[in-house]
Amino acid sequence: MNKLKNLILFLFASFGMILVLSACSNQNSSSNNDNYSSRSTSTTRTKKDGASLIVYFSMSGTTEEAAKQIQKDTGAKIFRITAKRAYSNDYDGYAKRGDYERRHNVHPAIKNRIPDWEKYKTVYVGFPTWWQHPPMIIHTLFDDYSFKGKTIVPFTTSMSTPMSSSMPYIRRMASKDRARVLNGFRYTGNKTALANWIKGLKLTDNK
Ligand SMILES: Cc1cc2nc3c(=O)[nH]c(=O)nc-3n(C[C@H](O)[C@H](O)[C@H](O)COP(=O)(O)O)c2cc1C
Repeated sequence: MNKLKNLILFLFASFGMILVLSACSNQNSSSNNDNYSSRSTSTTRTKKDGASLIVYFSMSGTTEEAAKQIQKDTGAKIFRITAKRAYSNDYDGYAKRGDYERRHNVHPAIKNRIPDWEKYKTVYVGFPTWWQHPPMIIHTLFDDYSFKGKTIVPFTTSMSTPMSSSMPYIRRMASKDRARVLNGFRYTGNKTALANWIKGLKLTDNK
């Protein structure tokens, strides 16, 4: 009788142990799933928000063309920044002022305010390359807005200077907010190359 009792106790204990072990292993796998699901939840949230923005500066329209093409490819919102004290329309005039601003580290004030800035998770930042740099108004953009928690996707247009020459400046500007900066793209008018670059970014908030 005692033997039978011991056997029953042993079976209960073993069953209990199995339950405990299986609960633990479920917890482990569910905590992995939690990571996964929180990731997928945030992905869903990002998608729902349509949370990407294209901010760009352009004087003669080439960067604007790139920005509009990115908008077509991504469905992102688009915003053109302009200077409070407008650049003159003639090339020599704005080139001279741009040169002065670069040499004297002037950050020209931006005239217009970007609405709903906080809601964007990804910000495409576009500019013409000026003397192998982003124009100084891009510095103002980083002065005026916090990029904390955002992903920055730079793009540029230029006669020949590669994107890589502006990247250190963008990374430095972004570092104040510890924002994530992706490798940028130089648009040369090739829309397929631009679309492929965007696809390659694998950003979840692109359409
Ligand atoms: C002030 C100024 C400086 C420039 N510096 C460069 C340069 O360093 N390298 C280059 O390849 N192109 C340079 N360019 C050419 C522009 O980057 C190019 O024309 C650009 O596509 C203009 O863009 P936007 O039409 O959006 O203003 C410069 C143009 C200007 C006006």
